[in-house]
Parts: sequence; C-alpha cells; structure tokens
Amino acid sequence: MEILISSSVWDPKPWVEGLSASRDITKIHVWPTTEDISKVEVLFVWKPLAEGIINKLPKLKWISSLGAGVDHLTSDPQIPSHIPITRIVDPFLARDMTNYVIMGLMMHQRSMLTHLHNQRATIWDRITYQPLKVGIMGLGALGSHLAERLVLLGFEVFGYSRTLKDIDGVKCFDATQNEEFLNHAEVLVNLLPVTPQTESILNANLFRKMPEQSYLINVARGNHLVEKDLVEALNSGRLSGALLDVFKEEPLPTDNPLWQHEKVTITPHVASVTTPESAIKLLLINFELLNNNQKLLHQIDLEQGY
Ligand code: NAP
Ligand code: GLV
Repeated sequence: MEILISSSVWDPKPWVEGLSASRDITKIHVWPTTEDISKVEVLFVWKPLAEGIINKLPKLKWISSLGAGVDHLTSDPQIPSHIPITRIVDPFLARDMTNYVIMGLMMHQRSMLTHLHNQRATIWDRITYQPLKVGIMGLGALGSHLAERLVLLGFEVFGYSRTLKDIDGVKCFDATQNEEFLNHAEVLVNLLPVTPQTESILNANLFRKMPEQSYLINVARGNHLVEKDLVEALNSGRLSGALLDVFKEEPLPTDNPLWQHEKVTITPHVASVTTPESAIKLLLINFELLNNNQKLLHQIDLEQGY
C-alpha cells in the first residue's frame, strides 16, 4: 500500500522513519513531490492540504489527521465525503494538554507573572490566592482527561459537552445548559472542536455570562475566538486575563495587538503536540483494520463535524 504524508508545519522525517517499519506500506511519498502518486491509498495530513492533491489520488481509501483536530479537513471543500477520516486520540496528547492547562491555571491562581515582575523590582508582596472554579468546554478525549486530573488536584470542576457526560466529581452540563455552565466558570478552558456550531463561540455574549474577572484559556482553535471581543472584555475588566495557544492566523502576525496586551499570555500552538512514535502505533492498527475491511478507530462523524 502506498501512502502520502502532507505536513506543512511538522518535519515528516519521524513519521517516514516510523511508518517504514510496516510491511503493509510499500512506498511513502512526502508532499510536495514530483513522483507518481496515483497509487496512493492512504493520506496523512497536518494542515493545510495543498489544493488539487485529492484529484491526483484516484485510489484513496482513508485520510487521517496527524493531530487531534480535523478542522483543516472538514473545512476543505476538496475532501470527499465518502472517504473515512480519522484523527489522533493518544494518551500522550491528553497528558501533555492536561499538563499545559494545569500550568496555565496555576500561573493564574498564584499570580506567577506578577511575582516574576516583583522579583525583578525587588518587591516583597505576599499576594493571596483563592480556590478556583474551572469550567471545561468540551469533554472529549482531552477535556475529560483534564477534568479528572483537576478534580484530583482539588479544583471545583464544571464540564460542558454536546451530550451529557458522567465524570466522577465533575458537575456536567449539556449543550442546552450553556448559560448555567458559564455562570460557574471562573476559569474557562476551551477544548471544543471547530464546527459550524462552535466557531466564534468565545465572544462578548459568552464572556458576559461568566463571573466578573474570569480568566480564559483557549487551547482548542483560534477560530473559536472573536479576538476583538476578547480585547474589549479585557480592557473593560470583565475578564482578568487570557492564556492563548491557538490563533485564527498562525504564526500570529507581529502587528496583532494580542502580542502586546498586558493581560494576555501567548504560546505558539504548543499546548500538546502529537508524539509520532505513539501516534504511529495507532495508525498501524488502523492499517490492519483497513486491510480487513473493518471500521477504523477514531473515525469522525462528518455530520457532526468532529
Ligand atoms: P473530541 O474528543 O472530539 O471532543 C470534543 C468535545 O467537544 C466532546 O465532548 C463534544 O461533545 C464537545 N462538543 C462538540 N461540539 C459541541 C457543541 N456544539 N456544544 C458543546 N459541546 C460540543 O476532541 P479532543 O480530542 O478532546 O480535542 C479537542 C480539540 O482540542 C481539537 O479539536 C483541537 O482543535 C484541540 N487541540 C489543540 C491542541 C493544541 O496544541 N493547542 C492539541 C490537541 C488538540 P460530545 O462528547 O457530546 O461529543
Ligand atoms: C493540535 O492542535 C491538534 O489538533 O492535535
């Protein structure tokens, strides 16, 4: 079986090396290429896919995102609806996301940026800290892992998802209970997928439903956030700050005002990065399922958009 890897952001080398060990794979092409790719049956993509690639792949049987998110595929009109699309669901991805969010939460709760500033200015200020109620939007592979760990750390945790979940120690809400959920979110962590229902969901209307002086952690996608509304909410004091890992345009343009905003902390889409060695194990299981004409693991539901 021939495969094609298209990754415009990550180095394809570890993927090629890891996948080469499989006897099912006879040839690995890496885009861009001038080779004949007409026999390719499997396409692995980490965004965005160059225009016209799909037309060159008449034998295509399976597409996988090389990350958890699939918005780069669901938003691409060239992707046909009859080909199964899978994504990466991996314990390392969940672990790393949970650790990142815990870091952001602790930095916020313990005023760590102020302490760093105070150290530079030799200021001894024993700033107090409060227990925090944390709201997690999206209780899927990543959000549910985070919720469970935050309960163990002693946070009061609230969760929100399309269908109602049951997670020990977490007060769960479904999509009909959006306002009730938001009323509790002193820190709001966004771990939703981007779909027509969730695009621009982090907007002025949502910020108004959160308690005064809440804090936002957006680790899902930039398309969830209305940046102008965030800046207004920060300037008016409605929100106390934000930790942002993802942006509408990446890399974030140097003239974007978020870079300079004193209440914003920015990281360059590194909250949780796929670990090729463990993700490849999952891809190889799916190769076997594909060969046996069985349903693939972690296939997305195109109707729901994730
Ligand atoms: P997932 O398993 O598909 O979980 C998605 C969750 O969102 C589910 O709980 C789902 O509800 C809920 N949801 C979907 N649409 C909703 C709606 N309209 N209203 C309320 N809830 C809704 O996804 P995941 O693997 O946890 O990943 C989440 C996102 O994290 C990815 O899509 C990606 O964008 C982002 N991500 C970012 C990084 C980074 O480094 N920054 C790394 C990895 C992933 P149900 O449970 O009812 O289906
Ligand atoms: C990263 O953003 C991912 O979706 O895996």
